[in-house]
Amino acid sequence: MKKSLNIDYQIFSDISQLDETDRRLLEMARSALDKAYAPYSGFQVAAALMLDNGIQIVGTNQENASYGLCLCAEQNILATAGSEHFHSAVKVMAITARSLNKPVDHPISPCGACRQVLSEHEDRHQQPIRLLLQGETGEILCFASAKDLLPFSFSAKDLL
Ligand code: THU
Repeated sequence: MKKSLNIDYQIFSDISQLDETDRRLLEMARSALDKAYAPYSGFQVAAALMLDNGIQIVGTNQENASYGLCLCAEQNILATAGSEHFHSAVKVMAITARSLNKPVDHPISPCGACRQVLSEHEDRHQQPIRLLLQGETGEILCFASAKDLLPFSFSAKDLL
């Protein structure tokens, strides 16, 4: 038996096509790039999210001379959300990036580890996280759920 998977997502050619909240989150993420600490890779990543209570926060990648300790923007921001707003679900997350090495002209999507952490947040709150992805320039991708980027994910249901 053969099966196939289909992922629905939206492409926007310009930030002006987004609604006000999404636009603001992407702009917040862009402004937060200055707070990224990425002296080793030169690759600055920032995320901005909105919780179900309307609170908006930002997070950035934080690197370390011991490279394996580098922390991704998405995991940092989810740790902040979980720590400071334990009961609130993330509704939307905008992610952007800038590189000192070359122009980032395409959307940057979360790494595998970040997808796993995003997926667990969705499970925990039983709500999808809408993802907005954009580079410094170029189109914006919008996914209705982080799970769209991680089919066949490992989760608590496998353990408990
Ligand atoms: N990075 C993120 O912040 N998020 C991702 O999803 C991919 C990678 C960071 C980690 C590291 O500081 C730099 O980008 C280069 O890998």
